[in-house]
Amino acid sequence: MLVSCPRYWALQGHRLHERYISYLSLNQNSVCDVDCQGCFRYPSRKRGLPKESLLTMEDYERLITEFGAAGGLALEISGEGEPLMSHNTLPIIRLASQLGLWTTLITNGHLLTDDMLRELVELQVALVLSLHSLVEAVYERDSGSRGSFGRKMKNIDRAAEVFRGTGWLERGRDIRRAAIHWTLQSDNVGEVADARAFCDERGLLFSIAPLAKTGHAAARPDLWLPDEQRLKTVNALGDESIIFYDEPGGRVVCGTCKYGLNVGADGNLLLDAHGGYQVDISNIRTTSFAEAVRLQHAYSARMFAQLDGFCPVRDPGWLEFLAEQRYR
Ligand SMILES: C[S@@+](CC[C@H](N)C(=O)[O-])C[C@H]1O[C@@H](n2cnc3c(N)ncnc32)[C@H](O)[C@@H]1O
Ligand code: SF4
Repeated sequence: MLVSCPRYWALQGHRLHERYISYLSLNQNSVCDVDCQGCFRYPSRKRGLPKESLLTMEDYERLITEFGAAGGLALEISGEGEPLMSHNTLPIIRLASQLGLWTTLITNGHLLTDDMLRELVELQVALVLSLHSLVEAVYERDSGSRGSFGRKMKNIDRAAEVFRGTGWLERGRDIRRAAIHWTLQSDNVGEVADARAFCDERGLLFSIAPLAKTGHAAARPDLWLPDEQRLKTVNALGDESIIFYDEPGGRVVCGTCKYGLNVGADGNLLLDAHGGYQVDISNIRTTSFAEAVRLQHAYSARMFAQLDGFCPVRDPGWLEFLAEQRYR
């Protein structure tokens, strides 16, 4: 299991469903160095948000300090674009670490350097490297960027080396600090067994999650997943999910979404780090932390009561839920 994931906190005895606030997801700007075919990003936000609208490091300092003081457990930086393109990402992680908070950093890894890796391993970081193919031509057809596969492989190997041996055993569970995250889509289903072996060779946790039909993926039915039975078999090759949380009634939900405050790069409060950007909830700059958490509880409760799956954005009813404004 990945350190700082919702089931990790449950293992520590934290009942997320009874806590005031557990996660803080901080999306950075929606720009990226590549252009994956099925990216969550809304095509209209690909060029990024206006610079003057972006939260500053001072805004983050206030927010993260309040989050820590309120008993928050951990940050997640993933969101819409590539977090390593933001100059705030490393300072945010440093500050969180100083305050004793873990950060899960989800990145395509293209921009990782040796210095960064050496620093990240010293900080309280769970490093998640996204990967969707081990075949250069498939990877670069997806990323739309020549040379990206070579950078990716080199950086994964380097990250695996730097993070090797950083895991530990706790209450019978193997806890890891570095993972590969495989977004399962139609063109990589056949590669999962190879990806499993690739992670085992490098001591990396192997996380798999299905493509959500949102953002760019909404207009790419050719990437949507085939038959369910086969998918179950393929999913079984993955390790513990990095987002699941077990509710007392037995339902499994995305813990970072349900129990987290999701904040866009411009400070807008979001229903989820990966969608619903058009919903006008409030902005963290003009809202007190207590009010932001109150809103998070209210919106999250409505969302998870009306959508059945573990992830609102992946739920078949998500677009209708948004269109009919059932979050109100
Ligand atoms: C949106 S990206 C942002 C962080 C970073 N740029 C990256 O790719 O890791 C976060 C994760 O979501 C995955 N992802 C992107 N689009 C997706 C989609 N439509 N459905 C499911 N997962 C998706 C990516 O593969 C990545 O692992
Ligand atoms: S999935 Fe990540 S790496 Fe790929 S285009 Fe989207 S933000 Fe960039």
